[in-house]
Amino acid sequence: MSQDLFPDTLALPGLTYLPGFALGDEADLVRAVLDVAQGAAFRRMKTPGGREMSAAMTNCGAAGWVSDAKGYRYARLDPLSGAPWPEMPAIFRALAERAAAAGGFAGFTPDMALINRYEPGAGMSLHQDIDEQDFSAPIVSVSLGLPAVFLWGGLSRAEKPARLPLNSGDVLVWGGVARKFFHGIAPVKAGAHSLTGTARLNLTFRRAL
Ligand code: SIN
Ligand code: FE2
Repeated sequence: MSQDLFPDTLALPGLTYLPGFALGDEADLVRAVLDVAQGAAFRRMKTPGGREMSAAMTNCGAAGWVSDAKGYRYARLDPLSGAPWPEMPAIFRALAERAAAAGGFAGFTPDMALINRYEPGAGMSLHQDIDEQDFSAPIVSVSLGLPAVFLWGGLSRAEKPARLPLNSGDVLVWGGVARKFFHGIAPVKAGAHSLTGTARLNLTFRRAL
């Protein structure tokens, strides 16, 4: 089938897989994540239902994605510190813009990034990214550190997700017809990575406000 002709790319409607797109920037990106976390610590948020999420999160940029008993939303201030989130590192913005253009979304500029940290066993159940204001903008997702399996569903939670292995430096861009598709991360397996140790980091760039 045609997929065999293109072993290094995967084209699903609305989803572009850019294997190794961020490989040259890995070390700088991880350093920038540590800088952000100095200003806004990783924390495990609670779902509105009161369950602690298994991935730890922080944010940078004009707003941060937060979850607590009051629900999911974007907040301009970090509820832990009461201060604005750290500025988005220049290397984050540059990479997100390049990747978006490669995925068919030239002109995208993110106003924030959500940063997830997965220790072994942590994952993210199927969900939609629907708390943003601007759905014409794509989501740009950058994987760093330990590998993971990305789950890519459809417009309904019932659709059986495809399983896409992600390695450090891989980038995904989704938007358009797929902007609200369900997606998630299977529990991360134990391992070690030279830049992130025992963790997987993920950056998702969005247009939230
Ligand atoms: C997310 O959906 O926000 C995270 C996806 C990932 O960790 O790759
Ligand atoms: Fe998401």
